[in-house]
Amino acid sequence: VTGTLYLVGVGPGDPELLTLKAVRLIAAADVVAYPAANGETNLAFEVAREHVPDTAQRLPVDIPMCVDPGPAQSAYDALAKDMRTELEKGRNLVYLCQGDPLFYGSAINLIDRIAPLPVAIVPGVTSLTASAAVIGRPLAARNDILKVLPAPLASGVLERELKSASAAAIIKVGRHFDRVRDLLYRLDLAGDAMIVEHATRAEQRITPLAAFASNERPYFSTILCAGGADR
Ligand SMILES: C[S@@+](CC[C@H](N)C(=O)[O-])C[C@H]1O[C@@H](n2cnc3c(N)ncnc32)[C@H](O)[C@@H]1O
Repeated sequence: VTGTLYLVGVGPGDPELLTLKAVRLIAAADVVAYPAANGETNLAFEVAREHVPDTAQRLPVDIPMCVDPGPAQSAYDALAKDMRTELEKGRNLVYLCQGDPLFYGSAINLIDRIAPLPVAIVPGVTSLTASAAVIGRPLAARNDILKVLPAPLASGVLERELKSASAAAIIKVGRHFDRVRDLLYRLDLAGDAMIVEHATRAEQRITPLAAFASNERPYFSTILCAGGADR
């Protein structure tokens, strides 16, 4: 009998936002895998740490992050091969995923590579809902159309999508911040845009875009704003 790969969402950072199911599976895992760039444990592991059994094998995963997708795809191939070897021995694997595994998560790259061996997905609290919660503002209400817009999209695409949204969340802001900020000002959407950094973690910071120092760049953030439709 083969084991199962569980892609387990651990939520946005507050360990109390782990689900009971996540805790149960982590505590019973034979192998616990987690993203660990440059050998450093990452947030997903820190959130789950107290539930990882001493007996579980730890499998840090270092996926190269670069614009060329080639190296990352090769790293996922190698990881999936190692995981399949463990699963074929009948061992259960948990892969810890920040937030929710299927919401822009890197674990998505493993699903087809592990099939036809069993993969089960355990949803987690997303950074999207966590960001709305910490500012206490609805993400979307009534018939609002909420758009999730990755900041690396071209400015023209972002502009078009923002204009026709009732509400928007801009993610993966990072080095695109200046471009996104200029666009929000140009579309007159900066006024009520909020920058949420590290939602639910000790480092959490909430800043209106208009109050963000011009020489500052947000870190690990989501920008929540009203869209241009139905203003
Ligand atoms: C690759 S996506 C992964 C999202 C994750 N799977 C989830 O469900 O939250 C990473 C982006 O999510 C957003 N993000 C993740 N955690 C966050 C947090 N705690 N606070 C604010 N934004 C966060 C940032 O925009 C970041 O660039």
